[in-house]
Amino acid sequence: MTAGYPTVRLRRLRSSPILRAMVRETELNANDFILPLFVRSGRGVRNEIASMPGNYQLSVDTLVEEVGAAKDLGVRSFMLFGIPPKKDPKGEVSLAEDGIVQQALRALKAAYKQDVYLVTDECLCEYTDHGHCGPLCETHGSFDVDNDATLPILAAQCVSHAKAGADLVAPSGMMDGMVQAIRSGLDAAGFPNVPILSYAAKYASGFYGPFRDAAESPPSFGDRSTYQMDPANSDEAMREVALDVQEGADMVMVKPALSYLDIIRRTKETFALPTAAYNVSGEFAMVKAAARNGWIDERRVTLEILTSIKRAGADMILTYHAKDAARWLKQG
Ligand code: PBG
Repeated sequence: MTAGYPTVRLRRLRSSPILRAMVRETELNANDFILPLFVRSGRGVRNEIASMPGNYQLSVDTLVEEVGAAKDLGVRSFMLFGIPPKKDPKGEVSLAEDGIVQQALRALKAAYKQDVYLVTDECLCEYTDHGHCGPLCETHGSFDVDNDATLPILAAQCVSHAKAGADLVAPSGMMDGMVQAIRSGLDAAGFPNVPILSYAAKYASGFYGPFRDAAESPPSFGDRSTYQMDPANSDEAMREVALDVQEGADMVMVKPALSYLDIIRRTKETFALPTAAYNVSGEFAMVKAAARNGWIDERRVTLEILTSIKRAGADMILTYHAKDAARWLKQG
């Protein structure tokens, strides 16, 4: 016979803050966070992104300051996005040795060495003049991203970033075979120890809206639904993750996070791999907008959201809230 009320009273374990802290199952830590940052050319640039308060397009010098400030709060991992001065049809501007992300990597490694962990978003949408995630091909008069033509460019981009100091590469383009192409590219170039965090289950989502302003990378026509996943699918996400693992992904990501907590949980339970979740720009913007209107308590809601993402199974969270959350966690 299983005991029930009144023998069992679950409220007993909620009666004191100290006890609640002891039985708490999920605890956030600044080590869980990866802060996305946007870098562009120039000096002294600090353009606030209107829909993402507290986030900026930075030049290399101000980026170094921003990383220093985050590091002082305990945030040590960063994801870099580049906004190049020029774009081209294939996104090959991303391969330049003095490209914007390459410059940023060298400056950050010179300033902070092993005290920071630098992740690079590996995709071509910020570098193509049409804003899609790879060069285009035409089938019966309609344009689409050429999967196989994108792979060598992506692999070369990763190698170039690894040379400049990237600690971890994170391909986000949802091309078939991208992890395999990148793994062999890195190995052949002498970087067998640079791990790959694959954006394995990345959905074609409306929640990326503010990011596209921040990175100046909206597609100039159409959308990304021929390569990013249909938000309605879950089994397909398991196939995406399985393939990336088979191709050599060291860690996998689910993106966005909040509308996809079920996918995070399923990924973690199925593959038992280090799993990341991307708390994306639109999720961040909604919290900021509601908080600015006085409709929600920003600190409380943010920590609740981040905790829920970790509780769902994420080991790492990419989040624009990283600095605020680290500060709040420090305050206790
Ligand atoms: C690049 C990329 C995007 C995001 C991360 N990497 C945009 C997109 O796929 O359209 C979105 C991040 C965010 O919204 O915070 N492919």
